[in-house]
Amino acid sequence: TAVDLQAVHDTLVSVAFEAGRMILAANPSSISTDTKMNAVDIVTETDQAVERMVSARLTAAYPSFAFVGEETYEAGVTRVTDVPTFIVDPIDGTTNFVHSFPNACISLGLVVDRRPAVGVVYNPFQDLLFTGIKGGGSFMQRNASLEEGKGQGARVKLPLGGASPPALGDLSSALVSIEWGSQRDGENFELKARTFRKLAAAKESGGGMVGGMRSLGSAALNLCACAAGQLDMYWEGGCYAWDVAAGWCILSEAGGRMVSGNPGAWETEVDSRVYLAVRGARSGQKELVEELWKVIGD
Ligand code: IPD
Repeated sequence: TAVDLQAVHDTLVSVAFEAGRMILAANPSSISTDTKMNAVDIVTETDQAVERMVSARLTAAYPSFAFVGEETYEAGVTRVTDVPTFIVDPIDGTTNFVHSFPNACISLGLVVDRRPAVGVVYNPFQDLLFTGIKGGGSFMQRNASLEEGKGQGARVKLPLGGASPPALGDLSSALVSIEWGSQRDGENFELKARTFRKLAAAKESGGGMVGGMRSLGSAALNLCACAAGQLDMYWEGGCYAWDVAAGWCILSEAGGRMVSGNPGAWETEVDSRVYLAVRGARSGQKELVEELWKVIGD
């Protein structure tokens, strides 16, 4: 039987607001952090508490669906299968959260047949909500948790993408986000360091010199910024399905595209770990992806 994506979306939005209230009520400075992979791979009690709440709510509402969450993931054991699966990051941007840097969110995705089908990304610090439903478009809402007609600013819901988004130019005019993530050694670190360098350097210095580079500190919010046309591209090597599942749906419904961060592969999987997102555009999308792949592949 087909999944009622609108009903899932509505459930995820209310769970996101509940999570947002928990995140805002937490005092990041008083939270003890356990070290995961290394000292910069942090988890707070709030990440764990939010994931417990989300998992309880979603398992009760959709008992036949699978659940993958960042804080309960077991390497080599947890897998994304063909069963409809909720893929959840309770706090994406944990480092921002512990510094009170207001760019963190809860990321709630549903994949059906391993493809992103619903995405809800909510930044409680800005009361900013991004949503997408496969085949149903994606939206950005300001003052998202306010009840209609109540409180100060009005709730504003904007469709993303639109009929004729601005054309993309070449790399020298592109605003590109890229993240260091928490893995700071080995092969993957070398790949990231090489990619940072290639994107920044002038042609004469062996690079492709993008117009500007940003690191927002949250994979989901990087993808939403691409969906909203605020960033042109986002590259990351080493993040996980829960960082991208929700944002991917929002991005593709806005006319953007998620491809592999490894040069050449136009199709990629939700757990492929190396991603390149490009915003929706009237023209120039394919050319810009190819130009970036060429720069990082050379
Ligand atoms: C991290 C953020 C960060 C990205 C890392 C992720 P977390 O997620 O999305 O921007 O660079 O790869 O792990 O740990 O804050 O949930």
